[in-house]
Amino acid sequence: ESENPLRPKSLSEYIGQDKAKENLAVFIEAARQRQESLDHVLLYGPPGLGKTTLAGIIANELGVNLRITSGPAIEKPGDLAALLTNLNPGDVLFIDEVHRLSRSVEEILYPAMEDFALDIITGKGQMAASYHLPLPHFTLVGATTRAGQLSAPLRDRFGVVLRLEMYSPQELAKIVTRSARILDIPIEAGGALEVASRSRGTPRIANRLLKRVRDFAQVISNGVITYESAKIGLDRLEIDELGLDANDRRMLATLIKFYRGGPVGLETLAAAIGEEAVTIEDVYEPYLMQIGFLNRTPRGRCATHAAYLHLGLDPAEGMPAAQ
Ligand code: ADE
Repeated sequence: ESENPLRPKSLSEYIGQDKAKENLAVFIEAARQRQESLDHVLLYGPPGLGKTTLAGIIANELGVNLRITSGPAIEKPGDLAALLTNLNPGDVLFIDEVHRLSRSVEEILYPAMEDFALDIITGKGQMAASYHLPLPHFTLVGATTRAGQLSAPLRDRFGVVLRLEMYSPQELAKIVTRSARILDIPIEAGGALEVASRSRGTPRIANRLLKRVRDFAQVISNGVITYESAKIGLDRLEIDELGLDANDRRMLATLIKFYRGGPVGLETLAAAIGEEAVTIEDVYEPYLMQIGFLNRTPRGRCATHAAYLHLGLDPAEGMPAAQ
């Protein structure tokens, strides 16, 4: 299904997320032994941590087909009905951005998940008729960056809920080393760790930086990604020691210089840097919060002392004069 050669195909190749992985291995084995479909699985966490990859692994480990779609792509109840009626028994249906399903589509999904049936009403008034169509048993794997945005009835229908965590630099270094082997890129341990350390806990970023750092190593060095050549490449990409890129730093600088470090409302901050509020919430904030540079408070976003210091700014500046 997926052409990306860097995507692991089995749980044993999948690095990190140990808790989710170990539990999932049990649930998959149990379903296999009972020859049942696996319960529906909800994967949540920041983007780029491997939700689509895990859906592929689940299908592969179960020995079934994977069908991939997304919340916004399913426009009408009929679109979902067409997907569901074309599944083979036991198949995995992966719905990315599952929090973005429309209400009318969600209502078709409930009986499909719970009873493996399509409940459809046609016509109006005296001509109204309802149909109850059995479906093959299947596993819905839903992915979302924000479990809190799922409607309660939908969330309650997932029997397995797995929260994906950001990866440690050591785990990312293993992923980078594995990817380099697959792509035939010469890399030293120090180079892998340097790429990993600047990848914001995110495999998708680590794999992207690996390819860009290879370009620098190839053109301005001898082709080997060492600690030194990785550092040169990453510096040229303006990715700093903590993995912050120019956009991250611009947001923090705006928060500090225009809003005295906050608190400032999400929408105000979004307008100030010309990004969508959801992009700030899903892409920028998780890592900035993880490294202790940003707090979400009831009154808005606040930059921490550590953020000031990282940007070379004086935390006392912009604050009410102390004395
Ligand atoms: N590529 C992306 N995510 C991965 C992971 N968790 N393990 C191995 N390779 C990956």
